[in-house]
Amino acid sequence: MRMLVIQGPNLNLLGERDPSIYGTLSLDTLHDLLRKRATELKVDITFHQSNSEGSLIDFLQQEAHQVSGIIINPGALTHYGLALREALADTKLPFVEVHLSNIHAREDWRRRSVVAQIALGQISGLGWYGYIAALNFLTDHVNGVNEL
Ligand code: DQA
Repeated sequence: MRMLVIQGPNLNLLGERDPSIYGTLSLDTLHDLLRKRATELKVDITFHQSNSEGSLIDFLQQEAHQVSGIIINPGALTHYGLALREALADTKLPFVEVHLSNIHAREDWRRRSVVAQIALGQISGLGWYGYIAALNFLTDHVNGVNEL
């Protein structure tokens, strides 16, 4: 099974960017943790980070046909990225929306997500662990394990 992990604008700066909100791990370290768990689950992950919405959409269009699911932190595009939302919808793939911080406990404008409505679910505020939780859930979802 193969999955995509997609990271939106400014997430390349993880570790340096407001660590009290986003944690101290770099993006590479976060991806190492995901890779380790993915190996245990026998899942292959293709990672992509970009600061531009168009690049995220191009990546989705190129890769979607070859994968079973998507984990995405759209960064600030969460709140207004309608083209990204449509690209996600067009993949017809199950996806989990992840945020390191609790977007519901911050500024009002962060509480609205334009992708939440079409996501399987949203994980917000669990830091790096949210990505692992998303990977565990999505793997079971694709395997039909959590449909009791
Ligand atoms: C974020 C929350 C967004 O509001 C913000 O723009 C980000 C990161 C998070 O992971 O908590 O870039 O998605």
